[in-house]
Amino acid sequence: MIQNSTILAIESSCDDTSVSIIQKGKVIANIIETQTVHEAWGGIVPELASRTHQQKIVPVVDAALKKANISKKELDAVAFTQGPGLIGSLMVGASFAKGMALALNIPLIGVHHMKAHILAHFIDEPKPEFPFICLTVSGGHTQIVLVKDYDEMEIIGSTLDDAAGEAFDKTAKLLGLAYPGGPLLDKLSKDGDPKKFKFVEPRVGELEFSFSGVKSSVLYFLQKETKKNPYFIEENLSDLCASIQERIVSILIKKLKLASKKYAIKNLAIAGGVSANSALRAQLSNLTKHGYNIFIPDFQYCLDNAGMIAQTASFMYEKRLFCEHSAEPKARWSI
Ligand code: KG4
Ligand code: ZN
Repeated sequence: MIQNSTILAIESSCDDTSVSIIQKGKVIANIIETQTVHEAWGGIVPELASRTHQQKIVPVVDAALKKANISKKELDAVAFTQGPGLIGSLMVGASFAKGMALALNIPLIGVHHMKAHILAHFIDEPKPEFPFICLTVSGGHTQIVLVKDYDEMEIIGSTLDDAAGEAFDKTAKLLGLAYPGGPLLDKLSKDGDPKKFKFVEPRVGELEFSFSGVKSSVLYFLQKETKKNPYFIEENLSDLCASIQERIVSILIKKLKLASKKYAIKNLAIAGGVSANSALRAQLSNLTKHGYNIFIPDFQYCLDNAGMIAQTASFMYEKRLFCEHSAEPKARWSI
């Protein structure tokens, strides 16, 4: 699709304040400020998240304009993450975007966060061909999405309980790791044996996921072992991390392969924060040897970022998919 616009996009759905600028289909700035205030609380505190967005939004917008070396007058539209996400966080980005679009008298584009994670694949080469199957794995979602076109997507599988990112974060917490545990668990796994400990694979439908059972299996195992040896976790930390990671990743890969078989589609992609996981990336890359075409986004476009919002908005601009300047953010919003 030919893209001719210059758009400033804001992402503020959770705990990252991010602003990106796209020009003629090329992301020329992607500034991401991750909030650290939540670490002390072991999870995201929504009130703190929205307050921190409020403090960061102006400097991050300025930094993006500076990086892109453009003035506000050159913008054709302003885009923002309209949902899903934390409502207080979404409101900061939405309000700022509305104000900016009104002041500049240009269109406003409301972007779906999960669609944007998928369309992040169109920022860099190689770009996937339609149709492709995308495993979208983040802190709040785990979905298998059949992507037929830029704006035609169907969820063909999802989790019955926790998201994959939650599974990483919650099991990491059981090991005493700081929040968010996913990246830490990934790092510690590098020196561990993924086959050392076995955790259950919950029995669910063909394209369904369940991660709360994995978490319980880890919890009961740790309770049993630490009763015998109070130092069990610290003595086995990297093996525990590697074994938990192996359990989660093997479930994700298995379901993705099942979806590929069911829909006879060999173009497979991953998106969302968990796609930053090194084991998932490595095991997926390995599938290329078995006739699959694998698409993994660049690391900076895996976690929450405004680059993916800008890319999605750039496609939407060509179809004139604008929203009213009075548009409301949506905490829940189906794909
Ligand atoms: O997409 P994202 O940045 O935010 C949401 O929309 O949720 O995803 C964040 C999630 C967190 O659960 C985080 O622990 C997980 O992605 N995550 C990882 C890794 N990097 C981020 N999980 C496992 N391994 C990683 N390297
Ligand atoms: Zn996300």
